[in-house]
Amino acid sequence: MLRFLLRPIQYWAWRDPVRRAHRLLRFAEVEADGGRDLVRAADLTPDPRLRRLYLRHARDERRHADIFQRRGVEILRGLPAAPAPAWEAAWLAPGERGLDDVALERTRDAPLLAFLHLSEQAAARDFAVYSRLLSFDPETRKVFERVLRDEDYHMRYTRQELARVSPKQQTWLIWRGRLSRVWKAYLRFAVWFAGIMGAVILTLQYFLLLPPFALAAKRAERREPQGWSPIAAERNRPAGGQY
Ligand SMILES: [Fe+2]
Ligand SMILES: [Fe+2]
Repeated sequence: MLRFLLRPIQYWAWRDPVRRAHRLLRFAEVEADGGRDLVRAADLTPDPRLRRLYLRHARDERRHADIFQRRGVEILRGLPAAPAPAWEAAWLAPGERGLDDVALERTRDAPLLAFLHLSEQAAARDFAVYSRLLSFDPETRKVFERVLRDEDYHMRYTRQELARVSPKQQTWLIWRGRLSRVWKAYLRFAVWFAGIMGAVILTLQYFLLLPPFALAAKRAERREPQGWSPIAAERNRPAGGQY
């Protein structure tokens, strides 16, 4: 429901080519980061089958990073020099979140697979929406369609492997992963909202609290006599000295 309501805003977030290019470059960073985390997960797992799958997954994420980066740079090259957008609408048009700061050293394969499955599922859903929205940019649409095929595979293999390594706890792990994602989404929103509220409060302070003080200072200045003025005779005695 929320995703449906956000669609017009997402369209606006993708419509502007500078914002679009910077979003793709940001996606590239996150995909590359996810690839590195998967190499680390492959290092840590005792399961040879998972090691092979994690490494293949890492290669896919690395390739996605390259594809997103190439397209982002292509768009920017086709535009006159423009500064990066002040607001990228990151939480309105999120990319893949990968392992989203999961502590790999402390996480076993089953919870990791549950988390990965949910992350890939969300990425596949978001990328499908973006490729539908991008009717005005067929090249970028193709990029999302290509990446989407891999995300779909990642989503399926992580679910199958979770069922293999933890057949009894799989449902509970998926629910726990969902709650963890909701909590992380809330934290991201809270940080964003705190930033906005900080800016609003400072702006209100500037426009509502400062003017009365500035006005009072101006009035006080007007009451002060201009230039040199004589002082009272009793205050005009020589200051004298200590000795
Ligand atoms: Fe990816
Ligand atoms: Fe993926």
